[in-house]
Amino acid sequence: MKLRLDRWLAMLGAGSRSEVKDWIRGGKAAVNGRIIRDPALSFDPAADRLSLGGKEMDGRITRHVIMHKPAGVLTAARDPKQPTVMDLLPLVYRSIGCMPVGRLDKDTTGILVFTCDGEMNHRLLNPGRHVEKCYRALTEGALDEADVERFATGIALGDFTARPAELRILRSGETSLAEVTITEGKFHQVRRMFSAVGHEVLELHRVSFGPLELPAELPEGAWRELKEEELAALRQAAGMEDA
Ligand code: URA
Repeated sequence: MKLRLDRWLAMLGAGSRSEVKDWIRGGKAAVNGRIIRDPALSFDPAADRLSLGGKEMDGRITRHVIMHKPAGVLTAARDPKQPTVMDLLPLVYRSIGCMPVGRLDKDTTGILVFTCDGEMNHRLLNPGRHVEKCYRALTEGALDEADVERFATGIALGDFTARPAELRILRSGETSLAEVTITEGKFHQVRRMFSAVGHEVLELHRVSFGPLELPAELPEGAWRELKEEELAALRQAAGMEDA
């Protein structure tokens, strides 16, 4: 894919389109070491090296991120009143079209993946792909084997019946701790499943998404780019393996 130089620099967050045009005309931009003064010339972000004011730019316009979503932020591209997960990333990710894959509720914490690859995003969310998501839930009341069975059978939630899900009880008592693995991702699904068997969810945390586990070194609110092998595993889960 080729992009105009001014658009490329603006997408990378270097400045507004008009600022960037002025800089280019003033001889501040170089592609592959050669000064370019025409903002409209097209280049290939995947192959060409870009610098501005003598400083090499990270010109990649396809990026993938793993984040430990904190509680209290919305999974949305933007919101006029409340902080969103996009606000936790540098502006460049928004301008190159990096989007969260699916949603976590405002108060849910845990793994959230972002990608610029719209096709992969779409495929990972397709219920037909059965991509597994594992959540750890703190619930009210004591969970027992009857709950495990109801999760395994598929719980009717009014507008739909949840697919069979695996519930593993880690601790049962006045409050309980459990892990649940689901293969779909309807609105408030995990909270609604527990509520349907008489247990409100007090805290919810996503431990894994498809082949990816939340890295232990990522504290709440932190993020990093996906490693090559993580991206390959995700592409495979999306049915896009390159081989
Ligand atoms: N299910 C929920 O109920 N909430 C989430 O954030 C994710 C799955």
